Order: sequence, then structure tokens, then C-alpha cells
Amino acid sequence: MDRPPVKLGVMISGSGTNLQAIIDAILRGDLKAEIRLVISNRADAQGLERARRHGIQTQVIEHRKFPTREDFDRAVLATLNQRSVELVICAGFMRLFSAVMLDAFPGRIMNIHPGLSPAFPGIHAQRDALELGVKIAGCTVFFVTAGVDVGPIILQAAVPVLPGDDESRLAARILQQEHRILPHAIRLFQQGRLEIEGRRVIVKGEPGGTHPPPLINPPID
Ligand code: GRF
Repeated sequence: MDRPPVKLGVMISGSGTNLQAIIDAILRGDLKAEIRLVISNRADAQGLERARRHGIQTQVIEHRKFPTREDFDRAVLATLNQRSVELVICAGFMRLFSAVMLDAFPGRIMNIHPGLSPAFPGIHAQRDALELGVKIAGCTVFFVTAGVDVGPIILQAAVPVLPGDDESRLAARILQQEHRILPHAIRLFQQGRLEIEGRRVIVKGEPGGTHPPPLINPPID
């Protein structure tokens, strides 16, 4: 069934490269979506310029100006509703939503985390992975629920940790995959192929029998 484009509200706090990946996927015709609004909680977020360059409406709602997390969320919610947003995308957004937003968009808020959830929640996932000496790192797109980076997982990508990696080299390798799996997660949602069953997300119509080759690191020579 040919579904209409999904109306997105994108939340940012910084550089906005994940926002750019969504914009590019739409422009390429790879994603049937319309970005109705970009909201940043920081006035200096570079991502705001990315949105403006593409004529996308932006709004700065600074969390510091609200006495409580709930008040901030109510301001965000009102702005998203004014633009008839159907799906909220946290793209490098560094705030946790309260029940005000979670209850308003059940199963309709996605986040991208630069770690293989449930490993390494929080804002230093790449550094924590390096310091703990894991050989495989990656990123996760999940539906946001209460808690930090723990919602039902939609997609994950794995990348090797390579000799000589520092935090920025590993973060860049993970970021490349973030830019692939976040637009794809939105595409699956727009196609009506995501079903949440408790903690799990079922992706309907997955090609049976095909699976990615295992990632072994360091490789078996
Ligand atoms: C990304 O690794 C994202 O996962 C994390 O912040 C980094 C920058 O995101 N939350 P962006 O460039 O602002 O999209």
C-alpha cells in the first residue's frame, strides 16, 4: 500500500549531521518524509543552519528557560502539534524527555545512540567502548521510552574498533553508520513495517534467509 510521506519533527542540540542525513535521503528520493520542523534546545546548534539552508522551519526552545523538564516538554509538544508532526526524531538531541512527551507520542519518538545498546548508555558511548577495550562497537536506533537509551531497538549497525583508534576516529566510523540506519528506520516506519511487541520491534517483510556476514574483529586470517 502506497502510504503518504511521514511528517517529521526533528530534535537537535548540535552539529546536526544526522539531520543532514535525513534531509539528503529525502532529497535523493530514498525516504518519503516531510520535515515539518527542526527544534533545537540550543541557539548555537549548527544543525539549525543546515535546516535553514533547506528552507525547513526551525524553532529554538532553550531548556534552561523552563523551571522543569515537564514545562520544557509542554513547550516542545505544543510546537510539534502546531506543525502536525507524526513522528519525532531525536538526532543528536541531548535531553531526556519526560512523560509529557512520551505519553503524547507513544511508539512515535525515535533516537539514535552511538553505542550497541544496551551497552554504553549515556553521552560518552564511544569513549566508554574504547576504554573498556571492546573489539566491536556501533550504533542503535530505538523507540524512546522512560530511561536512558534503553527503548525497543529498531536497527543496529556494528563497526570494528581498529588498532590506533582514538575516540574521534571511532566516533567518525560509527557516525557513518548512524547516517545510514536512522533514515532507514524512518523509512521502515513510513512503510508501516515496524511493530512493537513489548521490548522487541518486529520488522515486517524482512527478507527471510538473508543475513549480514558476521563481523569478526580482529579478523580470522
Ligand atoms: C552523534 O554521534 C549522535 O549519535 C550523538 O551526537 C553525535 C552528533 O550527532 N548523539 P549530530 O551530528 O548532531 O547528528
